[in-house]
Amino acid sequence: MKEQLAKIRSEALSALESVKDAVALDELRVKYLGKKGELTAVLKQMGKLTAEERPAMGALANEVRAAVETAVETAAQKLEEAALEVKLRAETVDVTIPGKEAQLGHKHPMYMALDEIKDIFVGMGFTVLDGPEIELASYNFDKLNAEEGHPSRDWSDTFYFDEDSRVMLRSQTSPMQVRAMETMELPIRIIAPGRVYRKDEVDATHSPMFHQVEGMVIDKHVTMADLKGTLNLLAEQLFGKGTVTRFRPHHFPFTEPSCEMDVQCHKCGGAGCATCKGEGWIELLGAGMIHPRVLEMSGIDPEQWSGWAFGMGLERTAMRRFKIADLRLIFENDVRFLEQF
Ligand code: PHE
Repeated sequence: MKEQLAKIRSEALSALESVKDAVALDELRVKYLGKKGELTAVLKQMGKLTAEERPAMGALANEVRAAVETAVETAAQKLEEAALEVKLRAETVDVTIPGKEAQLGHKHPMYMALDEIKDIFVGMGFTVLDGPEIELASYNFDKLNAEEGHPSRDWSDTFYFDEDSRVMLRSQTSPMQVRAMETMELPIRIIAPGRVYRKDEVDATHSPMFHQVEGMVIDKHVTMADLKGTLNLLAEQLFGKGTVTRFRPHHFPFTEPSCEMDVQCHKCGGAGCATCKGEGWIELLGAGMIHPRVLEMSGIDPEQWSGWAFGMGLERTAMRRFKIADLRLIFENDVRFLEQF
C-alpha cells in the first residue's frame, strides 16, 4: 500500500508538471483526487490494515493527497499565467507608430470676407443683427414702400409659400431695416448679414440663394456724405488702400435718393474683361437715404431723424476680395478650391 501511494504521488506529480491545458488538468484532478480516483481507491483498502499500521498509512495518504492538491493548484496557476501572457501579446499596442493625420477644415472664404466686414462695422459702433429667412411680404415689400404691383413682387421672381403671397423667402435683407426700426432705440447703427432667395438660374454671377449684408444708420443730421464716407472706408479696408469706387444714381422704393456703388475690377484694373463683363467695374451694393415714408411707417419722425441704408452682395464682395472669377466656385464646395484660402 505504501508503494501504491508512492507510485500515485510520483505519477501524479510528473503528469501535472507537463499538463498542457485546463481540460487535461481537470481530467488529471479527477483521475487522482476524484471520488472514483486512484487515491480514493487506495484509501478504501485501509480497512484491511491492522490497527497499528493504520495511523502511519493514514498520515502518508493525507500527505500524498495534499501534495497532489498543491500540484494541481500550481499547474492551474501556471496555465492561467500562460493564457494571460498570450492575451497580452495579442493585444499589444505600439504607441510609437505615427497616428493617422486628422483632416482639419477651415473657414469658407465667403465667411472670411463676412468676418472682415463685421469687424470693420463693429469697429464703427454698429450692432450685428440676425433675422428670419422666411419673411412676411409686408416686411419684405409693403413697409419698404414697394406696393402691390411692384415688379419685384412678381411670382416669377419670388419664392412664395402661399397663394395670396403673404409669406415668402426674403428676396433681400432690407426687411431687417424695418425690424430694427420697430424694435430698437434711436439712434440706430446696424448691419444684418444673411441668406436671400430669388428665382434666378445658376450662372457665373447668379444663384437662387445668395447672401447680402444690410447696413443702416438712423440718427440726427445724417446725410449722403456720411453714407459715401462710410462705404469708401469699407472698400479701402476690405480691398486695400486706394481702391477706386464710383456711385451711380439708381432707384429703390425705400431710399431717396438711391445709388449703386461699384468698385473697379480687380482683374483688369478698369480696362474691361470677362470678370466685369467688359465694364471695368463690379457692382457691389445698392444704397441710399431712407425714404421718409419708410421712416414714418415704422413710427419714426422724418422731420427729426434721417438715415441711410445699403445692401451689399456678400458673394460678390468675397469674389472681389479674394479674386475669384466664378460665383459657382463659392457654392460647389470643391476642396481643391477651398484649400487655397
Ligand atoms: N435691397 C436692395 C437690393 O437687394 C439693396 C439696398 C439696400 C438698396 C438698402 C438700398 C438700401 O438690391
